[in-house]
Amino acid sequence: MSETILVTGGTGALGRVVAKRLLGDGREIRVLSRKPAPVGTPYAWRTGDLKTGAGIAEATEGADTIVHCATGASGGGDAATTRRLIEATRGAHLVYISIVGIEKIPFLYYNAKLATERLIQESGLPWTILRATQFHDLVAGLTKAQLRLPVTFTLKGRFQPVDVREVADRLVELALGQPSGRVPDMGGPEVRDSTDLARTYLAAVGRDKPVVAISLPGKAARAFRAGANLTPEHADGKVTFEQYLAERH
Ligand SMILES: NC(=O)c1ccc[n+]([C@@H]2O[C@H](COP(=O)([O-])OP(=O)(O)OC[C@H]3O[C@@H](n4cnc5c(N)ncnc54)[C@H](OP(=O)(O)O)[C@@H]3O)[C@@H](O)[C@H]2O)c1
Repeated sequence: MSETILVTGGTGALGRVVAKRLLGDGREIRVLSRKPAPVGTPYAWRTGDLKTGAGIAEATEGADTIVHCATGASGGGDAATTRRLIEATRGAHLVYISIVGIEKIPFLYYNAKLATERLIQESGLPWTILRATQFHDLVAGLTKAQLRLPVTFTLKGRFQPVDVREVADRLVELALGQPSGRVPDMGGPEVRDSTDLARTYLAAVGRDKPVVAISLPGKAARAFRAGANLTPEHADGKVTFEQYLAERH
């Protein structure tokens, strides 16, 4: 019997790897995007918007599994859009990607992810939730965004960056398996100081400038300094930050 798997956010950093790796015999892989299908896409593309609900019924119709990677920071974050997705879904296994430590770090985006996890858990749908640490791309992007400044600022604290391809592999495994509830967290291979990661990025792109760690007030920054975003007991990823950078620079 053919299986239909919908990947929301299938054009994003994570979702595009997930969708590609799900392609296989006897499977229809659908990608949901606000954009029209690119020429030659191998997916059963559905154009729709989780914010307005347009096209969502068509995207979810007949789906056996939904890997929910779509995200947006505005308008209630993932919670509002996921409520729409749940309302349109009939019995599909919902696989959601969340973030390590969101219950301890009260960033607005994280609060919305926590609310989304609860919505999924109470949805009546079969579900699986994986929490991951920050992706290499995001950690690199924090320093990249400041390349024009004479100094690089970092938030005092640590990261455990993980390769997006390894998170995608785990999500694919979960999507092809049985609904598993909240599965063990997934982190990158190393816990590293934010200044050390910034210096490593600068060295990889041939830049040398001061890196200054700032200590912000507030509960979220305190929790970050305390390492609430880390999961050293699940250092499952293999690709280090240096290996990730070496592939790109
Ligand atoms: N980045 C990290 O370090 C990290 C770490 C752990 C977990 N995560 C989680 O991983 C997930 C994916 O993150 P990412 O970095 O891959 O995100 P991303 O690259 O920013 O991609 C976001 C995706 O969401 C889709 N999207 C946004 N608004 C939408 C809407 N209204 N309707 C339909 N689709 C919409 C976009 O599709 P179109 O633009 O094509 O419509 C895009 O494919 C998120 O849930 C994030 O919280 C990220």
